[in-house]
Order: sequence, then structure tokens, then C-alpha cells
Amino acid sequence: MFPTHVTLVDVGPRDGLQNESQLIPSADKIELVRRLQAAGLTEIEVTSFVSPKWVPQMADNAEVMAGIQRQAGVRYSVLTPNMKGFEGALAARADEVVIFAAASEAFSQRNINCSIAESIARFRPVADAARAQGMKVRAAVSCALGCPYQGEVSPDAVEDVVQRLLDIGAQHIGIADTIGVGTAGRVKTVMERALRHVPLAELSGHFHDTYGQALTNIYASLSLGIHTFDTSVAGLGGCPYAKGATGNVATEDVVYLLHGLGLHTGIDLDRLVDAGAFISGVLGRQPASRVSRALLAKRQPH
Ligand code: HMG
Ligand code: MG
Repeated sequence: MFPTHVTLVDVGPRDGLQNESQLIPSADKIELVRRLQAAGLTEIEVTSFVSPKWVPQMADNAEVMAGIQRQAGVRYSVLTPNMKGFEGALAARADEVVIFAAASEAFSQRNINCSIAESIARFRPVADAARAQGMKVRAAVSCALGCPYQGEVSPDAVEDVVQRLLDIGAQHIGIADTIGVGTAGRVKTVMERALRHVPLAELSGHFHDTYGQALTNIYASLSLGIHTFDTSVAGLGGCPYAKGATGNVATEDVVYLLHGLGLHTGIDLDRLVDAGAFISGVLGRQPASRVSRALLAKRQPH
């Protein structure tokens, strides 16, 4: 049942960096994107066109998008919460927009200041406009495995939001464990529910690694044939509206797992480690990726 090729979407420049309090120079964000594509990533989530009052770190969205050197075969995506965000994404020539709903009412309010139903109504014109422009529409379902404010989130609630996002024209669904609380059995249940509506090729997992479960959750998803995952180089990040949640699972750790299983990713692990070391250096810390730390230690002369 395992797929032979797995696509990783590096969300580090967006999900990873959005949570940093120190302002990161746009040039470093651009350099990170360059290094990720040089390592073989074919999908990169570059930035968000959200309110700069809500997420100041993403205020340089247009500058970053203008600065990246696009490589053929690479898809550059951005988050768009509403039409204002979409207009920014269009002007910046994003290939793909990401709309982001939650399976929890409480999180929807905190993250985007509206109910789930209101958010879907706001996303509909975004999805219509994006598709009319030939841009792909990806949708994330936050808190699919648990919510920092309301706790338990039922698979029914996830399935309902998945269906609503498809109804308004989402072409891809990402099941997001925003706070990394999910374990493999529950992940399988939620993915199986999503697969009732979404084709295998258009379903992905987005696992934050707060409780150290992300690799296992990816393994569980792979066993269902799911072959697209969001990951974050160096394990950067977290969500500003999910306190204490750590970054997405590190791209390096996932590549190591996948290559160990004999699955293809098209990613060069050494160059990826370089990209992670670069951005960690900018942030003045060690990469959170265990694989990256191990490989960097091996490079040191004895
Ligand atoms: P609001 O305050 O309700 O919006 O925020 P509003 O429509 O009333 O507008 C208020 C002000 O924001 C106005 O400016 C608008 O022009 C401006 P003012 O008149 O006060 O000067 N504004 C914007 N500016 C720039 N770009 C825009 C935009 N929209 C309005 N697109 C809003 C609603 C959605 C805008 C706000 O709540 C917001 O920006 N939230 C950002 C949330 C966010 O980025 N969260 C992190 C990303 S999601 C995530 O990490 C989860 C994910 O990784 C999956 C997972 O792990 O779960 C995807
Ligand atoms: Mg996230």
C-alpha cells in the first residue's frame, strides 16, 4: 500500500518563520527559498498574505515573492485568508493559494477572527477567483486532531469542514495537526474519513511535532497510500495562535525516514541540511531536526 514517490511541501518559510518574534530580513527568507529549491523541493509555501497587524513577520510578503528566483517545475504557494490576501497573491504571481479553515470554532475565532461558516463564505470568492486565474486552490483544516482552546475535535467535525471546502472549489485538502497532539490510530481514522471525499493524490498531512508523534503519524498516513506531506526545514516554527505548539515535523527527518523506506522524494538530504543550517544560523540556534544535528555533527572534523 506504500506509495513509491512522496511529495514534500516545505512550509518552513511560511509556517516556520511566521512564529519568530525577531524580524528576519527578507533577503534571508529569499535565500532560504533558493536553498530549498536547490535541494530539490518542488513545492514551497513562501509567505502569507494575511494582516500584518496579526502576523508582522509576514508583512514583507510582496517583497519576498518579488525576490525569489523561480525555478521551472517548482510551485510557490501563499496563504490567503480573504480577497484582500488573494489580490496580494495574484499581484505577486503565486502559483497556488492556501485557504485555511479550522475544524474547531474556538480556533477559527482566534486565528482568523470569524466562525467556521463565515470563513467558508470568505474563502468561496477566493477559490473562485484563484481558479479563474489558473491558480491551484489548496485548503488546510486546522485542529483536525485537537484544539488548543476547545480540546477534543471529532472526526465528524473534520469531515464536515473537508466537505465544505471541497464544495467551494478546494482542489487539495491538508489535514493539519496544529498542536501536534494526534497519535497514529486517530490520524488513520481522520484520514480515512477525509478519503471518503478527497482523492488520494489530493490529500496531505500537515503535522506539527509538539508531542513527537509526527513521524509516526506520517508512517500511518503512508500506510493508507497518502503521499503528500507538509514539512518544515530544520523543524522551524509554530502557529502564533496555538501557544506552545512547536514547528512542523522537520523536512530532514521525513526525508531520512522516506529514503530509509526506499521511497523517492527527489530531495538531496545533504543540500537540505545545508538549507536548514543556513536558516538556523540566521535565527541563532541549532536546527530542531534530529537528523540535521546528527549529520552536521558527522561533518565536524574529529
Ligand atoms: P480582521 O481584523 O477580522 O479583518 O482580521 P478585517 O477584514 O476586519 O480587516 C482589519 C484590517 O486588516 C483592515 O486594515 C484590513 O485592510 C486589514 P485597517 O483598515 O485596520 O488598516 N486586512 C488585511 N491586510 C493585509 N492582508 C490581508 C488583510 N485582510 C484584512 N489579507 C484576518 C481577519 C483574517 C485578516 C486576520 O485574522 C488575519 O490576518 N489572521 C492571520 C492568521 C494567521 O496568519 N495565522 C497563522 C497562519 S494559519 C496556520 O498557521 C495554520 C496552518 O499552518 C495549518 C495548521 O497548522 O493548522 C495553515
Ligand atoms: Mg501549521
